[in-house]
Amino acid sequence: MNRTVYVNGNYLPEKNASVSIFDRGFLMADGVYEVTTILDGKLIDFKSHMTRLKRSLKELNMAEPREMDDLLEIHQKLIQVNNINQGGVYLQITRGSADRDFVFPKKSQPTLILFTQEKNILEATSAKSGWRVISIDDLRWGRRDIKTIQLLYSSMAKMTAISAGCDDAWMVEKGFVTEGTSNNAYIIKNNTIITRELSKDILHGITRASVLRYAKEAQMKVIERQFSIDEAQNSDEAFITSASTFVTPVVEIDGKAIGNGRPGAKTQRLRDIYIEESRKNAI
Ligand code: PDD
Repeated sequence: MNRTVYVNGNYLPEKNASVSIFDRGFLMADGVYEVTTILDGKLIDFKSHMTRLKRSLKELNMAEPREMDDLLEIHQKLIQVNNINQGGVYLQITRGSADRDFVFPKKSQPTLILFTQEKNILEATSAKSGWRVISIDDLRWGRRDIKTIQLLYSSMAKMTAISAGCDDAWMVEKGFVTEGTSNNAYIIKNNTIITRELSKDILHGITRASVLRYAKEAQMKVIERQFSIDEAQNSDEAFITSASTFVTPVVEIDGKAIGNGRPGAKTQRLRDIYIEESRKNAI
């Protein structure tokens, strides 16, 4: 790979890009991130991602980097110089470098990095075959609404799913599904889309907000409430959403087929609507 990436004001070949070993992102996972989808070389839901980013920074009392107003330009320039048609832009802000200490440093310059990743999301095989998921205890911390870079448990859960021959894990707390390892979880029963309500227990997915809005506009019924694995296994359809997968069907949970074991028609319709509407609003 010979991408151009962005580090603290500079566009550099990826092999020349570096940050300090004292960066608090590296030492303490003291940082936040966003992944914004690129479709047809344009950004999907960009403003919503930046609004969530600002909220994450505020919740952690972290300073905004100087380049905050230039983020759209930086995203678009990286897409252009790397000539990306489909994929995503990863953005990370950390509290910056300081001597290792549990106390937040009084003065530190935030570290801002961005890079692109190419990915064919439209033609992903999982969109046609669907995902098989396992359930797993949700052992993450209690502020999952903040999009922090501390992703170790999510990564472990993903690996447990892969070791079991599946695609992802739905995390469960107090008997109810919170979300997938890096996506929001949904079921459809009797023509109603059911997904967990927003709280500190889950990430407030940007794709989730768009999909629910488009679903309501298409006269589909939506209820935001908790559901169990048992209820999910007995639903008509199931799916997940994220910036890197759009709407992706779930066809099996803990070895039990959902519906007829194939991606559902309503899920497919939601995916189509999401792609069509996102294209209209891309910048
Ligand atoms: N993950 N829940 C979790 C725990 C996530 O990590 C993500 C996104 C989502 C979906 O959010 P959105 O629709 O805004 O992408 C839900 C990104 C894609 C990632 O970590 O790569």
